Amino acid sequence: MADLTTTIGDFHFDNTVMNGAGVWCFDRDELSAVDSSAAATFVTKTATLQARQGNPEPRMAATSLGSINSMGLPNKGLDYYLGVLAEFENTHPDKPYFLSTTGTDPDDFGRLFTKIAQSNFHGLVELNLSCPNVVGKPQIAYDFGAVERILTQVTGIYHGALGVKLPPYFDLVHFQEIAAVLNKFPLVFVNTINSVGNGLVIKDETAAIAPKGGLGGIGGGYIKPMALANVRTLRQLLNPSIRIIGTGGVQNGRDVFELILCGADMVGVATQLGKEGPKVFARLTQELNDLMDEKGYRRLSDFRGNLQVPE
Ligand code: DOR
Repeated sequence: MADLTTTIGDFHFDNTVMNGAGVWCFDRDELSAVDSSAAATFVTKTATLQARQGNPEPRMAATSLGSINSMGLPNKGLDYYLGVLAEFENTHPDKPYFLSTTGTDPDDFGRLFTKIAQSNFHGLVELNLSCPNVVGKPQIAYDFGAVERILTQVTGIYHGALGVKLPPYFDLVHFQEIAAVLNKFPLVFVNTINSVGNGLVIKDETAAIAPKGGLGGIGGGYIKPMALANVRTLRQLLNPSIRIIGTGGVQNGRDVFELILCGADMVGVATQLGKEGPKVFARLTQELNDLMDEKGYRRLSDFRGNLQVPE
C-alpha cells in the first residue's frame, strides 16, 4: 500500500480523502458512518448559531453528471456540532476533525468564534464563505472586502487552526485578489471549491429543485475542471503554509490523483459520497493506491503539485 498520509497545519491524517461539508455530516449518525469508513476524517455540516430548517423541498437532485442543490444551510446549530465533536475527540484523541461554520448576518461571526474559542474543540475550523443558497444573501467570498473584514474579526478572537471554504473563481484577477487577502491571515488551509453557484437543471419542462426559481449549486462531474483550476491557481498564489483541500467532481481515484497533482493536500468528496455512501472512501483509496503503484509513486509528495504543461 502506498503512503497516503498528509498534513494540514500541525495535524496529521492517515489518508487523504474526506467528505465535503454538506454530505453525510448532518447529525451524529451520519458523522459516525464517515468516521468509521476509510475516510481520513470528517467535516460537519456547516453550523450556524441557531439550528435552521433550510429551504423548501425539493432542494436537491442528482443527475447522471452530478447534482444540483439549494439546501439553504439546514443544520442542527453550533452547540449540537460542538457537543458531537467533543464525543469524537474523546473517543479518538489523536484524530483531527473539522467543524464547518458560517454566519448569515455580519454580527454572527464574532459570536460563533467566541463560542468555538470557549469550547474544548481542538480540531480545525472551516469557515464557509461560499454558500450560494441562502435566499437574499450573496456568496461572501465574491466580496473581497467582506472576506478581509470577517477574517480580521475572526482571527482576533480565535487562535486555533482555521481555514476557509471558497467558491470557484473564474477570472485570473479574482484569483490574485482573493489570494492577496487570504495571505494576510494565519490560515492553515483553504478548501476549494464549493458548488458552482446558481446553475439550473431541468427535468422534462420543470426545474429540478424548488428554491430560488430552480437555481442551485452545481456539484459532481460538471465542476471537476473548475476544481482543478482553482486548486492549481491558488496553490501558485497562496503562502506555502496555507494547505489546500481540493473538492469538486471526484468520482474515482484518478480524480483524486489529479487534484493532488494540482497541489491539493487533502481531497473532499461530496456529490459522489451522496450517491454511493461512505463506502466510496475505500474505493477511492484503493483506486488512488493502484494508480500510484502503476506510476511507481510511493507517497503523495512524489507527485503533489507536479502538473506538467505542454511547452
Ligand atoms: O452547495 C452548497 N449547499 N454549499 C454550501 O455551502 C451550503 C449548502 C446548502 O446548505 O445549501
